[in-house]
Amino acid sequence: MAAHAELQMSTALITGASSGIGAAFAEAYAARGARLVLAAPGEPRLREVAERLRREHGVDVHTVAVDLAEESGPDTLAKAVAEIGLDIDILVNNAGFGSRGPYHEIAAERDHRQVMLNVVAVERVAHLFLPGMVARGGGTIINTSSTSGFQAVPYMAVYGGSKAFVLHFSIALWAEYRRHGVRVLALCPGPTDTGFFEALGSRMSAGGRVRTTDEVVAAAFRALDRGQAYVIDGRLNYLTSNASRLLPRGFVAQVTERVLRRGSMAMVRSARAPRPRRLLGRRTAS
Ligand SMILES: NC(=O)c1ccc[n+]([C@@H]2O[C@H](COP(=O)([O-])OP(=O)(O)OC[C@H]3O[C@@H](n4cnc5c(N)ncnc54)[C@H](OP(=O)(O)O)[C@@H]3O)[C@@H](O)[C@H]2O)c1
Repeated sequence: MAAHAELQMSTALITGASSGIGAAFAEAYAARGARLVLAAPGEPRLREVAERLRREHGVDVHTVAVDLAEESGPDTLAKAVAEIGLDIDILVNNAGFGSRGPYHEIAAERDHRQVMLNVVAVERVAHLFLPGMVARGGGTIINTSSTSGFQAVPYMAVYGGSKAFVLHFSIALWAEYRRHGVRVLALCPGPTDTGFFEALGSRMSAGGRVRTTDEVVAAAFRALDRGQAYVIDGRLNYLTSNASRLLPRGFVAQVTERVLRRGSMAMVRSARAPRPRRLLGRRTAS
């Protein structure tokens, strides 16, 4: 497959495309001329994104309103794509959310939905679209993991665990499918300026500059062109994620627990401000 620049003949399927990182991928692929299939549960927002991309880039954009945290969600998505009649060349398996707090205080149903969306749907959607890529001899899969996937994350235990799954699952597929011409990438953003923290129900404290969605997408595209298995967006995120791998896991978890216990008390500036900025307090996971 050609470098990730000219994609006029390609179709990209993006989950979680109605906002944040997914919407930035939609914008970037539309700008490169790709046809799009955008998926998310909230239909009005999805339609707004689709209409804007059609207007600004003149590309063909389809939308599928689907709740991927439901057991049947991925199959509903695949059926809708089949009805549209498109082969998917690029899959951005991006939809996800987090929960934060002492594990026993988080509603069990919320954590269950988190696992269904961040883990089960990511795996199932890959299963539904990868065979077609293998049969056609090429394709691209970007799975959105997180810097949280590199270590245990107290007070975000399910989220960190889910992103560790995405990281290892993606790297394994990268190794398996290179020889089939299918590129698989685990995308690991750190704190990024999206609706994520609002959905988390918490304004997280973090050190370093919050990254923009455009920076995250650019990091993914560079990594694909270089054939990388995973990419951590941002130099500081790269250093902190890799530093934690050199230390005993229990020690890292204990230190993180202390930081996040205090951090959860500190209300900081919203992660929704219009420009990237430095959040107050200590660095934490995303
Ligand atoms: N922002 C960060 O700091 C950060 C850092 C590392 C990793 N990530 C990861 O990046 C990915 C995108 O998050 P974001 O930061 O862009 O957050 P976001 O702005 O909240 O976007 C989340 C997207 O996922 C969709 N979504 C939520 N629940 C869904 C469901 N049940 N089924 C299908 N789609 C669903 C949302 O659609 P609706 O609007 O319709 O609900 C929205 O389009 C997530 O996997 C997240 O874990 C984010």
